[in-house]
Amino acid sequence: MVEFKEISFPSSYVGRRKGGLTTYACDRPDCQIDGGKLLFEFIIKNKFQKIIDFGTWSGGSVICEAQALQELADRTGLNANEDPYHKDMDDLISDATTVIDKNEVWSLYPEKTCGTFSGEINVFDQSWDGEGQNGNIGATLNNIKKYECYKNVQFNLKKMDIWEWIKNPDSFDFLHIDVGNSPENILKIVDALSDQINEGGVIIFGGGALRYHYAPFGTQINEDGIDVSHTMVSLGHPDNYQKLKDTGLDFLILTQEYPGFICIDRRIRMPWPLYLREK
Ligand SMILES: C[S@@+](CC[C@H](N)C(=O)[O-])C[C@H]1O[C@@H](n2cnc3c(N)ncnc32)[C@H](O)[C@@H]1O
Repeated sequence: MVEFKEISFPSSYVGRRKGGLTTYACDRPDCQIDGGKLLFEFIIKNKFQKIIDFGTWSGGSVICEAQALQELADRTGLNANEDPYHKDMDDLISDATTVIDKNEVWSLYPEKTCGTFSGEINVFDQSWDGEGQNGNIGATLNNIKKYECYKNVQFNLKKMDIWEWIKNPDSFDFLHIDVGNSPENILKIVDALSDQINEGGVIIFGGGALRYHYAPFGTQINEDGIDVSHTMVSLGHPDNYQKLKDTGLDFLILTQEYPGFICIDRRIRMPWPLYLREK
């Protein structure tokens, strides 16, 4: 069993440890924080193979997902592929930048179908210019290497705006979205992807912890036991939880701990033969 390596670079999934000694350690009561590990465990439990990650920045969520796919590969004893990092890192980044700038897909393993992969991650971002929190090709490729989560995982990087993508979406087992998830955006995306969701595709929207930074914790717990005391980066306002609920959307809050997961998973409602066949 691979030990999950917490994200320690700037990311929505940076490991904050209560009382720890890392830069991001925190003593606030709501500052737990195991979002990355939960993402890792969720993928292992469900054995997802085709993953799409929207909103990359430096690859925090991608690396949590990749560690899970690598763990699944290790469990099934897959042989490692030829190391794509035998190339000079600057050359790799320059090659990726050229391809992505042409709006084409760049894959870590160029022989796309020949490797021994436990799964693939389509790594999508609307912008890869590396500015601010935009997708950063160099940081992402360096982090994938540093976290050693690539030996049996294919990564396909592409410039893609989610609003364009939902007009003609690729199929997925699991879709992780971290693009500033307002209730309106969540509804639009779920609506556009309803066929895929009804066929068993699972979505997690990162964000939904409903709290962030230094607002007082635990002062407003709603009737569902959800802490809505704080403004949260992704949901933005405490009323947003209610707004989403009032629409009747069948979402689950998998965890309120930062960054929080809003999950859409309708597999349980699928006719049982289809459900069993897919597992
Ligand atoms: C908060 S960062 C993502 C953090 C990352 N998931 C992590 O784990 O650290 C948000 C990302 O969403 C991207 N983004 C914002 N709007 C988008 C859109 N409409 N389509 C695709 N990507 C988008 C940004 O470029 C940025 O990389």
